[in-house]
Amino acid sequence: MTKHFDRGAAAPGRPLRFESGCVTQRALLATETVMNTVHVLNGPNLNLLGTREPETYGNATLADIEERLSVLCKRSGTTLHFRQSNHEGDLVTWVQEAGRLGEPVILNAGAYSHTSIAIHDAIKAAKTKVIEVHLSNIHAREQFRQKSLISPVARGVIFGFGALSYVLALEALLTEAA
Ligand code: DQA
Repeated sequence: MTKHFDRGAAAPGRPLRFESGCVTQRALLATETVMNTVHVLNGPNLNLLGTREPETYGNATLADIEERLSVLCKRSGTTLHFRQSNHEGDLVTWVQEAGRLGEPVILNAGAYSHTSIAIHDAIKAAKTKVIEVHLSNIHAREQFRQKSLISPVARGVIFGFGALSYVLALEALLTEAA
């Protein structure tokens, strides 16, 4: 579907003005985006990254991952909200908030991915895209990690690439938004 934008009024990352019936002016450049904000939500124990089982999760800390995403978001004019909580209800609340705002989410729900009907329901109710990510390849691990309750309601799932899983999820959102 062709998108119709008045590019004169919109800097990259700023809200784009939609003009009904106008003719396409020019294609978006690769570095431009129509995604203004992204929420990156991290669940339990991910605050321990860097020291927690580095053979499984790598050496990058959560702050390293945030920094990497923040550079990419700045480049594309996207505001990054990066959060972590050890509490299931916080993740539910944050998914609901993003859903109310219609803003996309990258979610690593940690162990709650395998257990949380509440997060599953929040994603299902949210009127926004949620990409599920995992650092590790959950299908190459214990059986209890091989089922995710998030996957059936996620836009897509990226796992097994360490910190790069987050970067790939962001790239997917930016590409789909362009
Ligand atoms: C994880 C995988 C989960 O099984 C685990 O409980 C985590 C991290 C990952 O990113 O690989 O906390 O979500």
